[in-house]
Amino acid sequence: MRSPAPPQPVRDIRPPDLPDDIPTPAAVVDRAALRANVTAMQDAMDRAGVRLRPHAKTHKCVEIARLQLDAGAHGLTVGTLGEAEVFAAAGVDDVFVAYPVYADAARAARLRELHERVRLAVGVDTEAGVTALAQAMRGATEPLDVLIEIDSGGRRCGVRPDATVPLARHVEASGLRLRGVYTHGGHGYRGPDARPDAARDELDTLARAHDALDAAGFPIDVLSAGSTPTVELSARAPVTEQRPGTYVLNDAQQVALGAVPPTAVAFFVVTTVVSDAVPGQVIVDAGAKAVPRDTHPLLPGFGWLAGTDLHLRTTNDYHGFVDVPESTPRPRVGDRVVVVPTHVCPTVNLHDELVVVEAGRVVDTCRVAARGRNG
Ligand SMILES: Cc1ncc(COP(=O)(O)O)c(C=O)c1O
Repeated sequence: MRSPAPPQPVRDIRPPDLPDDIPTPAAVVDRAALRANVTAMQDAMDRAGVRLRPHAKTHKCVEIARLQLDAGAHGLTVGTLGEAEVFAAAGVDDVFVAYPVYADAARAARLRELHERVRLAVGVDTEAGVTALAQAMRGATEPLDVLIEIDSGGRRCGVRPDATVPLARHVEASGLRLRGVYTHGGHGYRGPDARPDAARDELDTLARAHDALDAAGFPIDVLSAGSTPTVELSARAPVTEQRPGTYVLNDAQQVALGAVPPTAVAFFVVTTVVSDAVPGQVIVDAGAKAVPRDTHPLLPGFGWLAGTDLHLRTTNDYHGFVDVPESTPRPRVGDRVVVVPTHVCPTVNLHDELVVVEAGRVVDTCRVAARGRNG
């Protein structure tokens, strides 16, 4: 597998042109960068002959999902039934819940309703999960589609490729329909060098699962891989579908991994310096309620201050701590400071709306419609 380009420095992430009257802390999207990300990913997948089914957990917004679908995406991926319900209600008609949903009594009715409304598929990786799904779907006119999750090395969920056949037999015996297999090469997040290995693991394990199922008489249509750090490397046969999510907005972690260049960052938290009373630091008005405490081994703190060498060292609920060395000019109380979160997906989930900017103006706002729909 070819080596990806080396990462560019996180300090090269520039803040967008901003009007100075956005109330802070604000979750801001740079429209030009957002659109460029949507187009670039769709073009790359079209060139590779792979369908794009973006994971909507990153943006949780109907407007951004629409951009992705209008550009050519083939349905959406979500992580919860709640997210699926939001996008189905907005007219998205093809949704894959890439999660081993446990269909307890509370979820059964919701699953049946979604299944009647949209082309639905759900992830499975255990016999107990399959049994519960089958019970929930009892009486449905059409069988529910499922995809078996494969563990390609992330050690989170999923079975090994040779364990797919007994699970496929259970799926069939339970009256569900096997559409395919999927994996998330999450171990590609460990560092720039881990990306090619994780992509290769995605390709190998999906191919082995396909071959095992085929030999046992279970032909499948979908071999689905998906993560922003691996997508450019595993978008080729036998993979038929990719499910990246983060690529649409990006964050400091993706830049540090070399998955995207600094110019692809389209999401920022705009903050105001509220205190410089304690020497050696300033406090900004984005605490843990505006920027999550997610970390990555390649990065300090929870977010990078765009266009500087500073970072968000820690947070309390409403206070963000930024250490400022003596050699660096100290931002003043009232100054705007733009944070690039280490991890964008949980950041979006902390905000009611995204303020969309272009050329120094607010051009739109998007409601984070699936915010908090965590189950
Ligand atoms: C099952 C699954 N598919 C796809 C994705 C998208 O990956 P990324 O956020 O790296 O784009 C994720 C992310 O957590 C995931 O868990």
